[in-house]
Amino acid sequence: MIIKSLELMNFRNYDFLDLKFSEGTNILYGDNAQGKTNVLEAIYLSATTKSHKGSKDKDMISFDQEESHIRTYLVKEEIGYKVDMHLRKNKSKGIAVDGQKLKKAADLLGLLNVVFFSPEDLGIIKNGPAERRRFVDMELCQLDSFYLYNLNHYNKIVNQRNKLLKDMHFNPQLKDTLNIWDSQLVSFGSKIIERRRMFAGQLNEIIYGIHKKLSGDKEELIVKYEPDVEIEDFEISLKRSQERDIKLKQTCVGPHRDDFSFVTGNIDIRKFGSQGQQRTAALSLKLSEIELVKKIAKDTPVLLLDDVLSELDSNRQNYLLNSIGDIQTIITCTGLDEFVNNRFEINKVFNVVEGTIQS
Ligand SMILES: Nc1ncnc2c1ncn2[C@@H]1O[C@H](COP(=O)(O)OP(=O)(O)OP(=O)(O)O)[C@@H](O)[C@H]1O
Ligand SMILES: [Mg+2]
Repeated sequence: MIIKSLELMNFRNYDFLDLKFSEGTNILYGDNAQGKTNVLEAIYLSATTKSHKGSKDKDMISFDQEESHIRTYLVKEEIGYKVDMHLRKNKSKGIAVDGQKLKKAADLLGLLNVVFFSPEDLGIIKNGPAERRRFVDMELCQLDSFYLYNLNHYNKIVNQRNKLLKDMHFNPQLKDTLNIWDSQLVSFGSKIIERRRMFAGQLNEIIYGIHKKLSGDKEELIVKYEPDVEIEDFEISLKRSQERDIKLKQTCVGPHRDDFSFVTGNIDIRKFGSQGQQRTAALSLKLSEIELVKKIAKDTPVLLLDDVLSELDSNRQNYLLNSIGDIQTIITCTGLDEFVNNRFEINKVFNVVEGTIQS
């Protein structure tokens, strides 16, 4: 998979931009707040229909503009595609592939696969479960449209059930409708639990070898799925939790409370790992993501590295750069110094200054 070019109109701090990428390694460098991350965000958006930061569409439209356009030309298995995205202030986004409008945004998924790596990702092991779930969800939503469908429904049901739990304080007879939500919650939630367990298995096949190398043959890393509730107990746990849910006005049982643990030598490094261990495991996780896309989507993803190299020591930097191989990569950084001592090949360099870019 190769992104040939990216055109932006009224996106973030870009009035107009037309970038032609190399098939190899591309570097975007510039001072802080010039627009480097914004370019990666636009690419991520073209792949996943969402911002990597979770920004709303209207916040990505340039200040004082009404709408924004993003056009990406890509080549996948030797076929070229044009992806047009149209962000609007008060309406959902419009997306077209080769001029054909998509019925829903989710239909875009699977065309362009990207792996986005930012310094925050290095905290994924030591931070809270919500971030680990977010990682898994973002990955699975890109790779599995059924998962996306089930997750969207599940999240909607949790929200509606929580709203009902709040409304019940004023209107207790609403309790009768709770059972309807519960059976839907179990039905969609079970599919999520099943897929997340499978994901942990797929991840383990890959991460073990990567982490072993990355830790200098010292550590063996295993990812464990920790579901909040097992499928077979879901219904009964939910019933048992009803009184508590009503009291707390929220749904206390279900995969929206899942976690994943990372274990080396029987030690849960979420809690007991050193900072270095946690960061190495996080890097292993991101590198596994690349291999997972290759395996599941049967295509090389485009790798987006947002300011991440400066966060790594030279050993890990080298490992990361060496494992990129023949994947198209777009790297942002504030200076070019960090590449001087690296022997890897840079194919194109762009300088980013206040929403303009020169090659
Ligand atoms: N909707 C918007 N309209 C116009 N400008 C925006 C909008 N959203 C963000 N910006 C501006 O875009 C600028 C560049 O942001 P970006 O995150 O791309 O910088 P960066 O080059 O990655 O900087 P850093 O090196 O600090 O990460 C910011 O100064 C921000 O104020
Ligand atoms: Mg940035």
